[in-house]
Amino acid sequence: MKIILTGIQPSGALHLGNYFGAMLPAIQMQSQGQAVYFIADYHALTSVSKADELRRYTFDVAAGFLACGLDPQKTILFRQSDVPQVHELAWLLSIVTPMGLLERAHSYKDKIAQGAETTHGLFAYPVLMAADILLYGSDLVPVGKDQKQHLEIARDIAQKFNDRFGDVFKLPEPVIREATAIVPGIDGRKMSKSYGNTIPLFGEEKEIKKPVMSITTDSTPMEQPKQLEGTTLGQLMQAVNPDGYKEYVAYGATPGVGYGDLKKKLLSEITTRFAPYQEKYRHYQVHPNEVEAVLVDGAKRARALAWPIIEKARKATGLAKP
Ligand code: TRP
Repeated sequence: MKIILTGIQPSGALHLGNYFGAMLPAIQMQSQGQAVYFIADYHALTSVSKADELRRYTFDVAAGFLACGLDPQKTILFRQSDVPQVHELAWLLSIVTPMGLLERAHSYKDKIAQGAETTHGLFAYPVLMAADILLYGSDLVPVGKDQKQHLEIARDIAQKFNDRFGDVFKLPEPVIREATAIVPGIDGRKMSKSYGNTIPLFGEEKEIKKPVMSITTDSTPMEQPKQLEGTTLGQLMQAVNPDGYKEYVAYGATPGVGYGDLKKKLLSEITTRFAPYQEKYRHYQVHPNEVEAVLVDGAKRARALAWPIIEKARKATGLAKP
């Protein structure tokens, strides 16, 4: 069975962009092999600086995935930091990682350009990510387009390690999700926490209503038909209820229907689609032990995958007896 591995950073409250961009595809893939999904809390430390926030976001990702249909019997769901051996492997990989490879990483360069402090953690981020991928013998690694280069770096590092120490690591295949999955935020840009344009996946009704009612539109007057195709409202409806999309476009083209009405319609579709998940999520909030139990069991299964591989790497490098 192929190992399908991906990591999700717990770096903020879950929103519709996370759901359609990463969670839904991951949940759909869980029946196509042995899914191994982890919450990348070590990585999130490069951007989350408050302990309480990291804990809350980590719980949120786990509870969110479970609420949205991740099956913990099938899928190995765990917390990255519950298998700290990943750092041992990251070190072994560092030995063969050229500085230049990391200096060329777009995400590092972008963060620096945005004014982030140049820390070793940010610089070494791709090495830790390579360790995540190689430690569990991944075959397929589904990620968004923005992570494509990180996967190439992981493959390069694995190859360099194998060249030097023998055939230890399997080279993973990237599975890149194309832009079709990009969900616009309320201002029309890609939905992202850093743009402050998100619609939360879980929250009180008013927390969801507020951003939906402030989705950017043009200034077509009430009595004129609205052209919804390709607009933020249209794209969001297409994601939330693809079957109802045509009807929505027709409703928008009806004279007398205003943007306020169209936003209310979208809001009700969001509520309908996510109500069952919302309910499960609330359940986990009052029963956090259930989530913890899944993560503890996941870590156990993840360690069983990692053990033979780290041993092989230890032997190949001379840290352990052959
Ligand atoms: N860097 C990834 C992101 O920000 C998260 C991640 C960490 C990851 N380790 C990984 C993804 C290993 C895939 C495989 O989205």
